[in-house]
Amino acid sequence: MTTVPSCFAPDVLAGQVALVTGGATGIGKEICRVLGAHGARIVMASRTRENLAAAVDELRAEGVDATFGVCDVRDAEAVRAVVEGAVTDGGRLDIVVNDAAGNFPAPMSQISPNGFKAIVDIDLLGTYNVTRAAFDAWLRDHGGTIVNISAPFEQRGVAYQAHVAAAKSGVDSLTRTCAVEWGPYGIRANAIAPGSMHGTEGLRRFADAVPGSQDRPTNPLGMHGHGSDVAYLALFLCTPAARFVSGQVIAVDGAGTTDMLRLGAGQI
Ligand code: COA
Repeated sequence: MTTVPSCFAPDVLAGQVALVTGGATGIGKEICRVLGAHGARIVMASRTRENLAAAVDELRAEGVDATFGVCDVRDAEAVRAVVEGAVTDGGRLDIVVNDAAGNFPAPMSQISPNGFKAIVDIDLLGTYNVTRAAFDAWLRDHGGTIVNISAPFEQRGVAYQAHVAAAKSGVDSLTRTCAVEWGPYGIRANAIAPGSMHGTEGLRRFADAVPGSQDRPTNPLGMHGHGSDVAYLALFLCTPAARFVSGQVIAVDGAGTTDMLRLGAGQI
């Protein structure tokens, strides 16, 4: 369910195919919903078949042309099979959204080497695997748009998120490299860095790990975002209106990572 009505033409992505990893739940599902509502054929990819099947049913009931492929983004061969299947079934692959991510909030002293590796493998290596497979299967010859879902952590130290911050900073770097190396192929690559998002697995896990930490939004706008806030930016980045926007990491966080001195309205 989106929060505000769309201001985009409902057919702005008509005829295009979008692959969305992590598309069965949370922000990824909202991205599928919004891109699909604007004409794109959606291919969701993630690890859990049951979640994928339920999400596809839900979006089809809303009129979205949606299908899915099962893969763990850490498994390059499985990823390649899903990407190639998307191209075969849809006849093209215009949009790749890398949303699949793992997270468990924990202080660095309690993150094992394998735990650190698991997050880097899912978030960073997984983004590389999917992006490379899409480049080889379609983007190199036809151009297209890559949208990576990152986090607003690159310039900060983030307690309980050593692994995620490191991995997502790598995603930001990868985004810029893709934009630079693949711009000549007609490929644009951008990242979106969501702040605290209402109703997400990430927010729930953080609230469990650090009780009270998520009771009140701490950004200047004083609210949690919604998946559709991210999805609308993803949609914009996929439209021709964004044809000159590439290599950027754009925060959707209510200025939560911008402010240094936070004052209330009456104090300013
Ligand atoms: N605290 C500390 N370590 C943890 C942990 C926690 N809460 N959860 C997992 N780990 C560690 C495990 O102990 C293991 O390390 P070890 O072998 O040294 O014991 C390592 O992480 C891998 O765990 P495993 O469960 O085998 O990994 P997985 O690849 O199956 O799962 C995760 C991936 C870890 C990301 C899992 O938490 C997950 O699937 N999360 C759901 C998706 C999600 O996080 N969504 C929110 C995105 S913002």
